[in-house]
Amino acid sequence: MPAIFPRWTNKIPLAIGVLGPLVGSFVIFAIWYWWSPLYTDVGYRPKQPVPFSHALHAGDMGMDCRYCHNTVERAAYAAIPPTQTCMNCHSQVKTESPRLGPVRTSFETGDSIPWVKVHMLPDYVFFDHRPHLSAGVGCVSCHGRIDNMVVVEQAQPLSMGWCLDCHRDPDSSLRPLDEVTNMNWDASPEAAQYDFTKDPDRKRMPSPPVHCSGCHR
Ligand code: HEC
Ligand code: HEC
Ligand code: HEC
Ligand code: HEC
Ligand code: HEC
Repeated sequence: MPAIFPRWTNKIPLAIGVLGPLVGSFVIFAIWYWWSPLYTDVGYRPKQPVPFSHALHAGDMGMDCRYCHNTVERAAYAAIPPTQTCMNCHSQVKTESPRLGPVRTSFETGDSIPWVKVHMLPDYVFFDHRPHLSAGVGCVSCHGRIDNMVVVEQAQPLSMGWCLDCHRDPDSSLRPLDEVTNMNWDASPEAAQYDFTKDPDRKRMPSPPVHCSGCHR
């Protein structure tokens, strides 16, 4: 009896069984990798309880980031300064300003100011400031021109594709280790007269992880 379907079609169910899940997972991979919006959250700028301006304090007054975010080089987390740090100056400067009302109240009661977090990675992502700063990646690469911001907003997508873009080719983002908080230092290849491979301050060459377990531990 002549076969209605040629013999090779017998293998179709097997092929679907084996390849189906692979194709399926590739589609999922493709969606999150290429379609996950690179620009979600860029521009996120929550209202803060006190109109604290980086443009004034870090820009005009030229305060170093580490005066306030003093753990950034030693801890994964970059501490938001306690009210005491503000009161170092504001016990003398602008002591009557209504805009500083919540700061004075916080100082008197000991309750911290409820700053709203701007940058936020999902829990399943491992991120640590330390290795980035000790490799000479500047704050500006990831946070933009904070020194020009009256209200902090998210400047970069903080997406996986964004992390990986730099991890695959970090060279052009590297600067001398003592310039990490300098917002005016231009790391672009046209401007930088800096050859990190010859920097005596570097103990080893940076090699950022691109394997999954580097960031998903
Ligand atoms: C006088 C203290 C002070 C200085 C100096 C300062 N900051 Fe801040 N920073 C704060 C406070 C307070 C907040 C929380 C309120 C806000 O987001 O504006 C903050 C928030 C931030 C945030 C957002 C954190 C989040 O919630 O995601 C970033 C990023 C940041 N600062 C970076 C910098 C950088 C970069 C510099 C140096 C150019 C700098 N800061 C200098 C006090 C300071
Ligand atoms: C090194 C000193 C110094 C520190 C530390 C400091 N400030 Fe200031 N801040 C100033 C000065 C100086 C001005 C006022 C500039 C002017 O004359 O307008 C000011 C202005 C302000 C104003 C505007 C007040 C108004 O009435 O216009 C706010 C709000 C403010 N600071 C919040 C903070 C907060 C919150 C912190 C802590 C995270 C802080 N400052 C830390 C020096 C400081
Ligand atoms: C390689 C990118 C990168 C660099 C460089 C970087 N940051 Fe961040 N920063 C981030 C990310 C990502 C987050 C969000 C972390 C999270 O949610 O776990 C963050 C969060 C913060 C926060 C909020 C508190 C926290 O740790 O979650 C502050 C404040 C901050 N950064 C300040 C700084 C300062 C100041 C510098 C420079 C001295 C700096 N950052 C350099 C990527 C960077
Ligand atoms: C502008 C460049 C740049 C960006 C953006 C960046 N990184 Fe990195 N990252 C580096 C460099 C450079 C190192 C290398 C450190 C070394 O080898 O000394 C590094 C190292 C790391 C490490 C290894 C830390 C360790 O202890 O071994 C982790 C984890 C990491 N990055 C996570 C992230 C995540 C998550 C993001 C995105 C939210 C991110 N990075 C964005 C440049 C960057
Ligand atoms: C350099 C750091 C880094 C590396 C390496 C990395 N990821 Fe991610 N991954 C991230 C960050 C950051 C996010 C969060 C993105 C967001 O919130 O938009 C993420 C998100 C994800 C998500 C959730 C996707 C979504 O859109 O919600 C999956 C799944 C994932 N990663 C899998 C992987 C796999 C598989 C690998 C290895 C091929 C890998 N990651 C390597 C940083 C990294």
